[in-house]
Amino acid sequence: MNNGDQTKGAGSNQMWGGRFDGGPSAIMREINASIPFDKALWRQDIAASKAHVTMLGAQGIVSGEDVEAILSGLGKVAAEYEANGVPEDWALEDIHMTTESRLAELIGPAAGRLHTARSRNDQVATDFKLWVRDAIDQADAGLEALQKALVTRAGEHAASIMPGFTHLQTAQPVTLGHHLMAYYEMMARDRSRFADARARMNRCPLGSAALAGTGFAIDREMTAKALGFDGPSANSLDGVSDRDFALDYLSAAAQCALHLSRLAEEFVLWASQPFGWIALPDSLSTGSSIMPQKKNPDAAELVRGHSGRITGCLVSLMMTMKGLPLAYSKDMQDDKPPVFEAASLLALSIAAMTGMVADTQFSTERMRSAAELGYATATDLADWLVREADIPFREAHHITGAAVKLAEARGVALDQLPLQDLKAIDARIDERVIAALSVEASVAARSSHGGTAPGQVRLRVAEARITLGMDAS
Ligand code: ARG
Repeated sequence: MNNGDQTKGAGSNQMWGGRFDGGPSAIMREINASIPFDKALWRQDIAASKAHVTMLGAQGIVSGEDVEAILSGLGKVAAEYEANGVPEDWALEDIHMTTESRLAELIGPAAGRLHTARSRNDQVATDFKLWVRDAIDQADAGLEALQKALVTRAGEHAASIMPGFTHLQTAQPVTLGHHLMAYYEMMARDRSRFADARARMNRCPLGSAALAGTGFAIDREMTAKALGFDGPSANSLDGVSDRDFALDYLSAAAQCALHLSRLAEEFVLWASQPFGWIALPDSLSTGSSIMPQKKNPDAAELVRGHSGRITGCLVSLMMTMKGLPLAYSKDMQDDKPPVFEAASLLALSIAAMTGMVADTQFSTERMRSAAELGYATATDLADWLVREADIPFREAHHITGAAVKLAEARGVALDQLPLQDLKAIDARIDERVIAALSVEASVAARSSHGGTAPGQVRLRVAEARITLGMDAS
């Protein structure tokens, strides 16, 4: 085996050295080696090799005896990887050659039959797809746990009042349960995007061989089925060079990370002293080495930050794929690091937000007081004028503006203005209006489908609990 020196001779690389007089330079070996990162694919590589050689046996392409030797050898290699990790020898380039070379050491020349009717091009496409499929399943499980935490807290706070914002200016009172359930909806769409990606990618490239298919009488249905795919991919050129599945995954991951970053940002804001709406769990906060009073929302800030890196991973792979001619090009080896990076950042981000949602203490009194500020029920006054006094909304808006101006000048809330002062602004106002101007009345009134009224929130929470299997239907 080539130990990495610039050696002369046909044996310069045991896998492909036949037509070479010299071995690769140190730079060539280093730039070529993907083993430092693609060793993460070892489980998928072993599983795909087992499926492939079993099929070669069933088709009579490799003898039963050799198939047995290869299967048990692959089992031994897997056990070694499990116990000691995957060795990194740059001369062996990647996980595929590392495994095949170890197999040869263990079982001898029969190992050479494993690569019949396949190429590293269809092999890596298959392994990587299997890996991405697992990452999708992992993200889905994480998001389900996050949804459960959101639904639980939303149920507790279906009637807790807080200011709702537009432009981060107090707009109308909403319920905390409604606010949390907005993120439940985002996570539901994220899960459906992952599910779409999973369904679309679930065709097996194995058997596409290098790019053109193979002359051996392989059974692609059999390997596809053994690996949990819906069937074989339809075009061998596309099979070895499609990386859409990774882009679909990254795009769903980036969208999800953006949602998580919005939730994280709200927690950062709400934990800040001028808000004082939440106490983050100690377990997901840090202290300052110089300011003893500080409790910093670092986990939330890092979730916010990670969303940028995850989006960067998507852009990175898009740029790798841009303009690549058919079929495989070595550029495509760069597909893995951004996907691996995004997957681990996303898993951490989901877990951190799940813990934060589950264990944050909400200061509902302070939230409610904040909702009293900023004339959040001005729309309720305008709506009352439309409903009870039959005034056109535009005119009602104008009258309400005058009332807000007066309350502002007096430094009081709208429902604290004396009735005669309101009447002086417009004679059609009567005493019934006062009841409509409390924050409780305001949220209770917004009972349209999907509105913030506690009844609506409870309905949606109940539906969500059934969807998530938290309650029987
Ligand atoms: N390590 C390579 C990759 O990740 C495997 C495929 C190599 N194929 C080839 N024709 N050199 O893309």
